[in-house]
Amino acid sequence: MLATELNEKLTRVGPGTPGGELLRRYWQPIAAVAELTRGKPTKKIRLLGEDLVLYRDSSGKLGLIEERCPHRRVSMVYGIPEPEGLRCPYHGWLFDGKGTCLEQPAEPPESTFKDRVKVAGYPVQELGGLVFAYLGPEPAPLLPRYDAFVWDNAIRQIGFAVIPCNWVQVMENSLDGTHVEWLHGYYSNYILGKEAEERGQVYNPKPVRHHARIGFDLFEHGILKRRIEVGGSEEDDDWRIGHAVVFPGMLANPTAQIRVPMDDTHTLHIWYTATQLNMPAPPQEYVPYVQMPWQAEDGEFITNFVDGQDIMCWATQGEIADRHLEKLGASDVGIILFRQLLKEQIERVERGEEPMNVFRDPAKNQIIPLPRERVHHGRVRDVGIGKDGRQRIGSRPSAPEYAALVRDLREQANGHGDDIFAPFPRVEIESLKQVTANLA
Ligand code: FES
Ligand SMILES: [Fe+2]
Repeated sequence: MLATELNEKLTRVGPGTPGGELLRRYWQPIAAVAELTRGKPTKKIRLLGEDLVLYRDSSGKLGLIEERCPHRRVSMVYGIPEPEGLRCPYHGWLFDGKGTCLEQPAEPPESTFKDRVKVAGYPVQELGGLVFAYLGPEPAPLLPRYDAFVWDNAIRQIGFAVIPCNWVQVMENSLDGTHVEWLHGYYSNYILGKEAEERGQVYNPKPVRHHARIGFDLFEHGILKRRIEVGGSEEDDDWRIGHAVVFPGMLANPTAQIRVPMDDTHTLHIWYTATQLNMPAPPQEYVPYVQMPWQAEDGEFITNFVDGQDIMCWATQGEIADRHLEKLGASDVGIILFRQLLKEQIERVERGEEPMNVFRDPAKNQIIPLPRERVHHGRVRDVGIGKDGRQRIGSRPSAPEYAALVRDLREQANGHGDDIFAPFPRVEIESLKQVTANLA
């Protein structure tokens, strides 16, 4: 249970709110580079409660400015890219990426009105096929080079979905180890069993592994998540290595899940897959992207695959979960640790200090390695693609270009399909504090 006042503090993301001020200290991914094309050079962005437009000008530079033209409030999503910036379609006012008004062609030539007009303009950078934005105070920190964004000899894809709830409950799910056995095990068997029955088929339930112990280590970049399932031991990768929840918003699984707060009640969810290969990686002209489906035509959640199951649980907690009504148990220690961390970091910013994971030293930002298990839940980690073009584990949809690439690589590897994926590099962390719970 969490007092309503603290819940507000942890969850609100708009300008001037404590949580919003913290989140403005981080670069946030907002689009795939491949989304901005000559045919569609702008994208409407909602980020941290602000309405913005991302554009590529006609000289190739990216810009991110307020969505509405300050003249008479037309959306600049319909703007015209020019060499110096974006021109409003209505009366031609021209803005550069800093939000400076460069021209007002309908005003008299001697007018200096444009010098007194400015809109918000924020820095943007590309990395690993994503566009990142920074909405905080200058000077902007370095854009963190987390490993998957910069690995060489890797192939990549991006998935997107807009989730209708606050970002914190999405993050809390990543500190909730036991939901895997229930939601993705027991419940999943129930749903897939019903679907098979409707088709007149027999469904073989997949085995569900009960959690014996969960553990969470605070470390330099966030929280490392560990587990032992019944029959496992401390020697297993699931305990010895674990995987990271990078503060504030990224679960660093083999497919990273990045949670970008659009506003208090919407989260841009990004699935970022980078797969290092054991063979030369073919160049990708661009990193392809796919919209992740989670809602059926009747508006119900699609719960027959892992991500759809998660999304159902995130969103049905409510737009902002009423945490004063919850009853937390021993299995919720990770969630409590994340809330403490979030609160501490908000308070750091309130005191005028820099929060964790803000990088200013280029030497520490060449590549930021993160730990990942090689064997997870008893099987070798795999981001392979099945015959249906979906990922074999979790049945997550893939971008068609990425699925085709993996199929081609498998053929080149003469059928030794799994050997094409390189194991994750070994990464050690220094634990600053550990909490555990014995559950069996
Ligand atoms: S509304 Fe944009 S120039 Fe008039
Ligand atoms: Fe999950």
